[in-house]
Amino acid sequence: METDDASNLERPMLIRRPDDIPSSEITPEHVYLNRRRFLGAAAAGAALAALPSRLRAGLRSAAPRAGHDRAHGPSGGVAGRATAPGLPQKDWSKVRSELDEPLTPYEDVTTYNNYYEFGTLKGDPVRHAQDFEPRPWSIQVDGLCAKPGHYDLEDFIVPSRIEDRVYRLRCVEAWSMVVPWRGFPLKDVIDRAEPLGSARFVEFTTLYDPERMPGQRRAVLDWPYVEGLRLDEARHPLTILATGLYGRDLPNQNGAPLRLVVPWKYGFKSIKAIVRMRFTEEMPATTWAMAIPNEYGFFANVNPEVDHPRWSQKRERRIGELRRRRTLPFNGYAEQVASLYAGMDLRRWF
Ligand code: MTE
Repeated sequence: METDDASNLERPMLIRRPDDIPSSEITPEHVYLNRRRFLGAAAAGAALAALPSRLRAGLRSAAPRAGHDRAHGPSGGVAGRATAPGLPQKDWSKVRSELDEPLTPYEDVTTYNNYYEFGTLKGDPVRHAQDFEPRPWSIQVDGLCAKPGHYDLEDFIVPSRIEDRVYRLRCVEAWSMVVPWRGFPLKDVIDRAEPLGSARFVEFTTLYDPERMPGQRRAVLDWPYVEGLRLDEARHPLTILATGLYGRDLPNQNGAPLRLVVPWKYGFKSIKAIVRMRFTEEMPATTWAMAIPNEYGFFANVNPEVDHPRWSQKRERRIGELRRRRTLPFNGYAEQVASLYAGMDLRRWF
């Protein structure tokens, strides 16, 4: 991957090969809006209330808050770019995250992407993923679990309560965003699968379909893209499977119809277009850690004290801002997640 400074914003993450590529929605919104009582202030509030208080303190729902948010028409809002045409009637520009950070505009979240299945340049996914059809979609859950299964996406999602969660996303390339995701706790599907006592990890796999994902026709990475989490990380309440952002179904370029979001880890852990979850005893062989083991590791916790071999991780460029800001340990979620790594040498276990 390539660091992200002003001089190389549009250069690919991976610079080793000169022959780099040149260049569901799950349930449709109206269906699940009718079927499930979700996303109103009440639903989101209830979801937050169900979390332990130490987590609640670190989370903010994107649902309206009294005296803070108000509904606007599609053209309303202070930061016009956050309210792109067709976004749900909400003044997204006024929804702020727990550190009082403004959301990254919708336009940036959906045009500045890393998704090598659709090209290695930041602008490639939005261009090349437009015709990708994320329906029908199914997910295989297998490996060391009592209840493996093959689910249609809708059946996979329906038992869960969908929530909006505003999270920072910190890429290992030293840029970051603040994104209002829509999704549900990964723990829900893990609990349903009933992992065996021997299961210690969960591995995720992206769709492999070079016909539909043109980037897979080139050996830029060892396809399909694979990621993984330790089971306790996967069960952590901050870890979600995202089905949308900004109140809408996930755009193709952001990983439709289903992706992982693990906010305290570098963005490459948040695998897109998931078709399989497998419980394992052994640590999964993950794509970037296998591709360049001295640069990318399995844990990939955001850590300003551990530089990437080719650049510093002390600071980051928030998309839309000029000045770099300090990178926070665990991307600002240390209070919630640091205990998962008690006793581990976080310098060694990148
Ligand atoms: N998932 C797949 N399948 N393929 C990818 O290339 N890129 C990762 C991650 N998930 C990637 C992926 C990286 S490096 C980042 S930073 C995030 O997706 C970017 O997510 P975004 O484009 O929604 O911001």
